[in-house]
Amino acid sequence: MSRILLSIPHMGGNEQRYVQEAFDSNWVSTVGPNLGAFEEAFRQLIGHPCVALASGTAAIHLGLRLLGVGPGDEVVCPTLTFVATVNPVVYLGARPIFVDSDRLSWNLDPLALAELLELRARAGIRPKCVIAVDLFGQSADIDAIQEICAHYDIPVLEDAAEALGATYKGVPAGSKAPISVYSFNGNKIITTSGGGMLVAHDQKLIDRARHWSTQAREPGLAYHHLEMGYNYRLSNVLAGIGRGQLEVLDERVRQRRAVAARYRAAFAGVPGLEAMPDAPFGVPTNWLSVFLVDPAAFGATRDELIAALDRAAIESRPVWKPMHLQPIYESALRHRGAIAEDLFARGICLPSSSSLSTTDQDRVIEVVQATARR
Ligand SMILES: Cc1ncc(COP(=O)(O)O)c(C=O)c1O
Repeated sequence: MSRILLSIPHMGGNEQRYVQEAFDSNWVSTVGPNLGAFEEAFRQLIGHPCVALASGTAAIHLGLRLLGVGPGDEVVCPTLTFVATVNPVVYLGARPIFVDSDRLSWNLDPLALAELLELRARAGIRPKCVIAVDLFGQSADIDAIQEICAHYDIPVLEDAAEALGATYKGVPAGSKAPISVYSFNGNKIITTSGGGMLVAHDQKLIDRARHWSTQAREPGLAYHHLEMGYNYRLSNVLAGIGRGQLEVLDERVRQRRAVAARYRAAFAGVPGLEAMPDAPFGVPTNWLSVFLVDPAAFGATRDELIAALDRAAIESRPVWKPMHLQPIYESALRHRGAIAEDLFARGICLPSSSSLSTTDQDRVIEVVQATARR
């Protein structure tokens, strides 16, 4: 019996053709036609200029630098996220402040954010930026977040790494913030094996980030540098994978949503198992199918369920461990956090690949149901 993994790559068919083109034309480099074509297709999808980078983390790093984040600054982040949201804050010498999630979307709670920003304002401190994260394929309430931030004149960076293909009030998740970020890591809804996209409303910002991403080399033959740069550009070979993957994004979204719908139908009668909510302001992709386990009603803890699935050769994972519980960030400031702690304690991510067969999904469903009965 082969192991069922949480979220695996799912090629569409044209990826190899575009990769072959890179080989045939010898653009095996961080320059070449696949990069331009991938960025153009992405720009049409999201509606704003973009630059393809080596990872979503690199995109967050450059996005924060574009917003002027630097040594000593404070950057507000949701505590419930993957660590890649927060590490670039520290790369720039700034300090993260963590804020709790809401129950509606599991993302940054606008009310808790408003409380924190008011407290910082009273202390005479204006955080340099707020990062909103769209977890598990669902947008944060970005209008509410941006409205609060506008009151304090603080820009928002949207980490939509997990939410490509989702919508917020009818527009693509990640398209409303002035700067946003997507990831094409191997576990994401579409992948380039590794890669990311930085998107901004202002073309000039994208031009600057592109310049930084290739070591900030000034034009001309001599290697002349006015600013510090990075080696962050996506490879033209991998952009070929991205071109092919973008062609099947809609299908991948439908497939992930179908996986989630099947779990929800199967678990409707299982006591103590509650699906991650669909917030009313958007349409999620269900990048991961996530459930909360109430041990008393379900008859087993979340960790016992993970162990039972593991014995049946099925990978499942807890919800992200909040940043304020991480040893590297335990000394950071935070505002609230009880909801994130509860979601982490009880949340389980089930196998969610778009290629998950109904037979394999039935294996997962049977183990969950059997664990509940026991
Ligand atoms: C919320 C979030 N932010 C940022 C990232 C970083 O993306 P990457 O792995 O492409 O660096 C990821 C995924 O890995 C993520 O899930």
